Amino acid sequence: MENDLLEAETLVSDFLPLNGTDHIEFWVGNAKQSAYYYQQAWGYKLVAYAGPETGVRDRASYVLQQNKVRLVLTTALSPEHEISQHVLLHGDGVKFLSIWVDDARKSFEETVKRGATAVQEPTEFSDADGKVVISAIKTYGDTVHRFVERKEYNGAFLPGYKAVTNAMEVRPVGLKHVDHCVGNVELGRMNEWVEFYERVMGFQLLVTFDDSDISTEYSALMSKVVSNGNGFIKFPINEPAEGKKKSQIEEYLDFYRGAGVQHIAIETDNIIETVSELRRRGIEFLYVPEVYYEEVPARVGTIEEDMEALKKLNILIDRDEDGYLLQIFTKPVEDRPTLFYEIIQRKGARSFGKGNFKALFESIEREQELRGNL
Ligand code: FE2
Repeated sequence: MENDLLEAETLVSDFLPLNGTDHIEFWVGNAKQSAYYYQQAWGYKLVAYAGPETGVRDRASYVLQQNKVRLVLTTALSPEHEISQHVLLHGDGVKFLSIWVDDARKSFEETVKRGATAVQEPTEFSDADGKVVISAIKTYGDTVHRFVERKEYNGAFLPGYKAVTNAMEVRPVGLKHVDHCVGNVELGRMNEWVEFYERVMGFQLLVTFDDSDISTEYSALMSKVVSNGNGFIKFPINEPAEGKKKSQIEEYLDFYRGAGVQHIAIETDNIIETVSELRRRGIEFLYVPEVYYEEVPARVGTIEEDMEALKKLNILIDRDEDGYLLQIFTKPVEDRPTLFYEIIQRKGARSFGKGNFKALFESIEREQELRGNL
């Protein structure tokens, strides 16, 4: 009975039902070459394209897909373009964290009514494959949430994009779907953004990490995780905290020139295979010292995977009350120390690897030191 009431209340209060991540669009300096990297190294397949050849005069966009993970890489064709200005300031980075919804008009109205800054009024786009409705609101930094309603669309991506294939042979690495996307925000502004997601988007606070969880000798950060009603969208928000030396979040903010997406976590069903293959293709991951694996059995207990294989690949393990998880983090994937990826395999656990934070941040600090930024 109590559960029914709770459920009813949750249903009533979910004014912003979300189906999941629709796509993540990057604004980059050279989309053609970025697309090659994501196809060859990460095994994404090129599925759609928009650019001069399809009647789009000012930019080129490549749509890449692996299972439910869809990335769009867009570059401008002139220096005056908004995208070029964005790349000049931030380097390559995430512009749109786009969310799949059933009603893009209502998503816009409900969030703007609660204080969201409008970026795009609900707009209908159509072609021979049907129609979509798209709207958009601002979030931290220059990042934007697009709401994509596509229930009446059957095309490869969106109207204006042409379905394409190329001769490149791509081999998927087992990426399944986006697990969470993390934002770094300015010192003292984490709670403001958590409150934004609660008030404007109806998200709930899942977990808080503070100094005692994640400070190392040098660097520290604060983090809170917000999630939507059905849990399909999870956004951890980080801010720097005072430490002896520069926090990794501060390094990001300095080089990205403001708040932005720090990492995208993608789920796999077989992290050993995924990471082995990514390593063979030259993807660089953070390193944890051997001593990390000495204390793992005591901390996480029995797991199904071969510990030696995990150790060889530098995969991290953590346990919570629901199960365990396996995770690993890449080094930044551009020259500025900004965006990186996480590969995660969940074996019941619904948390984010708190037990790994210390080992992980010590590893990040070694890299920061090499860059002269610690
Ligand atoms: Fe993460």
